[in-house]
This record gives sequence, C-alpha cells and structure tokens, in this order.
Amino acid sequence: MNFYYSLDTIIMTLQIKSLEAYKTIYQKSVEKPEAFWAEQADTFVWRKKWDKVLDWEFKTPNVKWFVGGKLNITENCLDRHLEERGGKTALIWESNEITGTTQKYTYRELHAAVCQCANALKANGIEKGDRVCFYMPMVPELAIAVLACARIGAIHSVVFAGFSAQALADRIKDAKAKMLICSDYNRRGAKNIPVKQVVDDALTMGCDSVKTVLVHKNTGDSIDMNALDVWWHEAMQGQSTECEATEMDSEDMLFILYTSGSTGKPKGVVHTCGGYMVYTCFSFKNVFQYQEEDVYWCTADIGWITGHSYIVYGPLLAGATTVMFEGVPTYPDAGRFWAICEKHKVNQFYTAPTAIRALMAKGDNWPEQYDLSSIKVLGTVGEPINEEAWKWYEEKIGKGKAPIVDTWWQTETGGVLITPLPGITDTKPTYASYPMPGVQPILVDAEGKEILENEKEGLLCIKFPWPSMLRTTYGDHQRCCHTYFSPFKDKYFTGDGARRDADGRYRIIGRVDDVINVSGHRLGTAEIENAINQHPQVIESAVVGYPHDIKGQGIYAYVIVGEEAKNNTDLEKAIRAVVNTEIGPIAKPDQIQVVSGLPKTRSGKIMRRILRKIAAKDMDKLGDVSTLLNPEIVEEIKKGRG
Ligand code: PRX
Repeated sequence: MNFYYSLDTIIMTLQIKSLEAYKTIYQKSVEKPEAFWAEQADTFVWRKKWDKVLDWEFKTPNVKWFVGGKLNITENCLDRHLEERGGKTALIWESNEITGTTQKYTYRELHAAVCQCANALKANGIEKGDRVCFYMPMVPELAIAVLACARIGAIHSVVFAGFSAQALADRIKDAKAKMLICSDYNRRGAKNIPVKQVVDDALTMGCDSVKTVLVHKNTGDSIDMNALDVWWHEAMQGQSTECEATEMDSEDMLFILYTSGSTGKPKGVVHTCGGYMVYTCFSFKNVFQYQEEDVYWCTADIGWITGHSYIVYGPLLAGATTVMFEGVPTYPDAGRFWAICEKHKVNQFYTAPTAIRALMAKGDNWPEQYDLSSIKVLGTVGEPINEEAWKWYEEKIGKGKAPIVDTWWQTETGGVLITPLPGITDTKPTYASYPMPGVQPILVDAEGKEILENEKEGLLCIKFPWPSMLRTTYGDHQRCCHTYFSPFKDKYFTGDGARRDADGRYRIIGRVDDVINVSGHRLGTAEIENAINQHPQVIESAVVGYPHDIKGQGIYAYVIVGEEAKNNTDLEKAIRAVVNTEIGPIAKPDQIQVVSGLPKTRSGKIMRRILRKIAAKDMDKLGDVSTLLNPEIVEEIKKGRG
C-alpha cells in the first residue's frame, strides 16, 4: 500500500486562512455537514472508504460516522508521513530534571518504537478489542504504548497517575482490562512517586481481569516484581520494528477515558476510530494554525482528554512536532515552562488557566528571563479563564503578538468545539468565542426551549453530531443516554452554562450540574462525598465548589460528624487522608466545616445552592429559606463559615 502524502498536503489541507473562509466554511458545514466532513475525511488514508458519512439519532443515542469505513489511525499518525518526512521530529520529550535529557523521536523512530511495542503487546496475549489500562508518568513510552494499542486494535484506557489505588482499581474493573502498563516511579518535581506500589495495591482490590502488568523502568529505584509483572525492556527485546496495522472499522472503539459526572461512579467515555481521527486532526490544524516547521507544546497530561487529542493524536495525524513534558511548571523554579519554550523555540503553547494563574502569582521576572519570541499562538483549556490571567498571558507571554485561543471542549466532545481561530477570528477575554465548523451550539432554557436572542445566558447544548463525539459510556449505554441526551430532546447536553454576546461569541460560565472543576480537573461532588463518608466518624457530608484564586474552584466540604469526633483534633487531616486514599490528592477538600445539619428540602434533598453561596461568602442573597425542613441550620452554617 502506498501511503505517500506530502506533508504540505496533510498540514495545509482545508486549513482555514481568513475570516471570510471561516464564515463560508462554517456555513457549508451547517448546510451540508455530510459533504463537509466527507471532504475532510478524504484527506486520510482509509483501507476501505465509507459507504455513508453519517447515521444518527440522538434519542437512543446512535451516532455513526464514516459508516463502513476501514482504517487504522496509526497508519495516519505515522506510516503516511514516513516516505516524505520520516526524518522530521515527531516527538520531543523534555524530562523533569532541567539538567536531564531531551529525547527526540523522528516519525521513522516513533513508527519503529510503536511497532515494536505493538508486537510485544501481541506476544503478551493482547488482541483486538482487549482493554489495556495505563498508569504511567509522562514518559515517551506512554505515548508509544497508547499508539501500539491503537496499532493492533486494543482499546486503551489511560488513568491519570495521580489517582489513588482504589480509583485505579475501579477503572480497571469497569473496563475489565487484560493488561496494565505502568512505570516503577513517577518523577514529579523534587519527588519520586512510587507508581508501581499503587498498582500493586490496586491489584489486591479484585482486578481479576488483569493477566499481565508491563512495568517500564523509569527511575530504576527498587520495586517488587510480582507474578504478573513483566519488564517493559525485556518484553521489547527481540521484537520486530515492523508491525502490520490491524484493520479497524470506523466505529470500532479506539479508547475509553474515565471522567467524573454528577453521580458517584466515574464513567468510561468511549471514542471510536474514524470520527475521532478526522476531528482531532482537523481541529488541531485549525485551532493552532500549525505550519510545517512549527514546534507545538501542550502541557496537559496524557491521563486527560487534552493529552489524548492534542499531545498524541491530533498533532501526529497532522504531521506536527509535539512536545511532551514529564515535570511540573514550578520545578526547579517558576521559569520552567518558559525555559522549555525558549529551548525548543515553541511556536504554539497550550496550557490550563490554573497554571497561568499559579505562574502569574510568582511574578513577571520569570517569563522576562527567557526569549519567548518564537510563540505565535497561545491556548487555554479546561476551565474558565479570568480576565486578569488572560491579559497577563497575552502581555507577558505572548508580548501582545500571539492570539489566545480559549478552547472550550470536554472529554465527551473529543476535540475543541468552541474557540477563536488565531489571527482569523477576533479574541475577547474570557470568551471561548465561536463554534468550529461543523459544530452547532445552542442555548436552551430550563425547559429545553432554544434561546434565540443574543446577550442571554442559558444551558449549552449541541444540536447536531460532530465526528469526535462520545458514542457511549462503557458498559452502560443507558447512562450515556440519560446523562447527555435525555435532559433535552434531540440535543447533546454539555452540563455547562454559557452566555452569548451580541456578536454571537460564547462565554462558558461553568458547570450547572454537581460537577466541580478544580485546577481544570473535573470532579463529581458525589464522588468526593462518598469518599468523605468512608471516614468512620462522618455521618453525612455535602461538597460544593467555591471560587479559588489559583485553582479556579476549590473544594468545600460540610460534614456532620458523630459524638466521638467532637474531640478529634486530627479530624480534618483524617478526612483529607480518606479522600486521598479513595480518589487521590486532587480531590482533597480545601476547606472542611463541621456542621450539625445540612439545609434540606421537605423531600430530604440537600439545598446545594445555599451551601454554594455560603462557601462563596455570598451570604446576602440566600433567598427564601423558610420552606426548608430545617431553616435554622442556615444561620449556624453562616456563622461557622467565618
Ligand atoms: O466546564 C467545562 C470546562 O471543563 C469541562 C470539561 O472537562 P473535561 O471533560 O475534564 O475536559 C477538559 C479539557 C477539554 C467543561 O464541561 N471547560 C473546558 N474548557 C473550558 C471550560 N470552561 C471554560 N472555558 C473553557 N475553555
């Protein structure tokens, strides 16, 4: 098979270059979505072309893109680039230590590494359709093994390596993963975190489906090797660097990624091969206006959707050079991000508002020490960005010449749906702005009626499918239907509230469900409450988000405790420890308030609206509390807020 495509063709194809082009393309994408997406999909390598572009109905839901098409996404990420640009750098890996190594993989080298790993997975019993769970730091082997799964049709499920053993076990069990890939330790700043130990603990929690644990030696510090464990380097030994890609149906599962919702258990969002490929590549090219010689860096972790779509798949599909960083923004000092930008002459830099706020707080002298003149586009993702942080980013990092793309999307959307296009559409602080071609956002009121006027707020829905939308929640299709498609007829409900300005720009206000966004990490309040309630002295708890200068939202926990806890001076510490064990450090409450009761309706429902206002110290507008079952509790809680 000939995969020859010139890189110019790959990068430039249908890259939107002007405001007029955006308007025309957008119009076309809405009027003739099938024709529009078929044109995009035509720029990829398909083993067999699709019979039909789209089959859909939102009720069940049932969405299929490029129906009957056959492909392998890694042939599009790797093989098709080889002939012309096999020597181009695909991946630059920057280690945690500033004095440490930088590893570079050309497209040819990455192809070989992925094939070798794919052969090793096969040799260890992995077949098409098997689930492979990951619990790894940000090392190149993570990207390589993810692609190796895709190469042979195994479904990857990457778990962020900051989650606890319990959270990892829950995800392994839900996906019935046959293999787990981990590292010995995770280098994060000055610490070495024992990753393998967490894996060993998780495997004592009934993960019977796991037959092999592939262990990558990262730091080389000592670990226990158990019966199921196989060293990565030994598994790779003798494996060929060629591996025929497995033919996948366009709608075969590519990966599962767990994310929090408003009910207790995280759900496995499922993405499929064809549509995800087309949309992540299309959006990457356009959102970042990537050009052939550019170096692109997204600081996310591959444990989240941003890392999947915009460190691994999107950039590699487009033939880009993508940077991957092992460490943290403040190690060895608050100049680290800028040092990396200078070192690799980064052209597109994509990070989270929480990181921007944290670095802004460290002072302007950090970015001032570095040459940031290579930066052409700045991106943000994951949470609303406040105006102050937006302006600092624009001035101190972009020096006023790099447009900011405030990209709104979700694990479920697979790719960026609402964003400015840099240099093409305008930017306005705190506005994610305009929909991508093919994306039809609308605002609805609580009854689901579309709000047609501008300068209004409402609930954000999408009314037509786009190729990279979730197809199901793993093992529980009903839940997918219930969460996203039942709230409003014939619409995908995002869970976010938004405002549309006079010119049609969207500003995302935040979640309207019981999900909070802490440092860009999505957490269900019910999930945290379940964890807190594991503490033997806790009777009941209610968790809400509240404004936090750096994290965007902090976690505020109201807890009712038993008599025996009244003298427990270590209670707060103990509650945080339980949350740490059940979920991980990211879910630890910032503030804990012991209360004697929670405000409840007569039907026993906790009035979170009141708790949110008290946590935010917005006590004046609590509204009428007289209809509560226990109105007197509100005064007590207000006093206790301090
Ligand atoms: O509330 C929105 C917020 O993050 C949620 C999605 O979280 P997650 O699935 O973890 O994916 C994050 C990375 C894509 C959304 O429902 N969010 C995401 N991007 C923005 C945002 N809020 C405001 N502005 C954004 N640009």
